[in-house]
Amino acid sequence: MSKVISFATQKGGAGKTTLLMLTAAALHNRSSQKVLVIDSDPQLSVKNIYKQEGNSKSYDVFAFNWGQPTPEVNFDKVITLAKRKYEIILMDLPGNIKSEEFYYSILQSDILMVPIVASTLDMNATMGFLHRIPDFNKEKGSPLEVFGVVNKREKTLEQKFIHELYHLENLKLFDSEISYLVRYKRQISTVFDIVDPMIEDDEFNIYFKEFVEKCEISL
Ligand SMILES: Nc1ncnc2c1ncn2[C@@H]1O[C@H](COP(=O)(O)OP(=O)(O)OP(=O)(O)O)[C@@H](O)[C@H]1O
Ligand SMILES: [Mg+2]
Repeated sequence: MSKVISFATQKGGAGKTTLLMLTAAALHNRSSQKVLVIDSDPQLSVKNIYKQEGNSKSYDVFAFNWGQPTPEVNFDKVITLAKRKYEIILMDLPGNIKSEEFYYSILQSDILMVPIVASTLDMNATMGFLHRIPDFNKEKGSPLEVFGVVNKREKTLEQKFIHELYHLENLKLFDSEISYLVRYKRQISTVFDIVDPMIEDDEFNIYFKEFVEKCEISL
């Protein structure tokens, strides 16, 4: 059965698009699964990089046009068709959780990946976001699986407490973390993997292993 994994959070700049693109490239290059990225964010960040690279070896990207009349009807059709062709669908969600783009996208999601930056502002915004999840679950009928991943890890005081803070919420925090590194700014691609998968102690590879296990993806 196909899985829809959405990268979402209310806090702008936490790393939704970055984490999604790193994950998509690794799945595309390291597995036999067919991967589709749906750009559900009107900013079209993934779609723009996909167009710039224009490489036939990339994973497939589809940008949904929310500007049409009754977009939700076509969105549901797109997801149904996508599930027939692709095993893994990753979605980049917009940051505005009150938007219809966000609402209809989350109703179609099975798993949420939430990048978390260890700063007071980011953590408060994430708490607010997590408190809304039960409302979406009620409408969906089946609960979302919600995973948090620390992104832009730095040696801050907040970083030390982050695991305790998120203990209480409906979020399972990954053990692995993504540091603040220049390679995540420069080497974002719809074609290339960020790192050689053979380097076992590379933090991205450790994250990816955990992602595959927690999301129950067979490579
Ligand atoms: N781990 C990281 N190390 C260094 N820079 C990072 C990392 N993750 C993200 N960034 C940078 O932070 C900025 C925001 O990242 P990104 O666009 O992925 O966030 P976003 O949550 O998708 O933002 P938006 O709310 O605008 O959609 C970008 O400049 C990106 O290159
Ligand atoms: Mg983004």
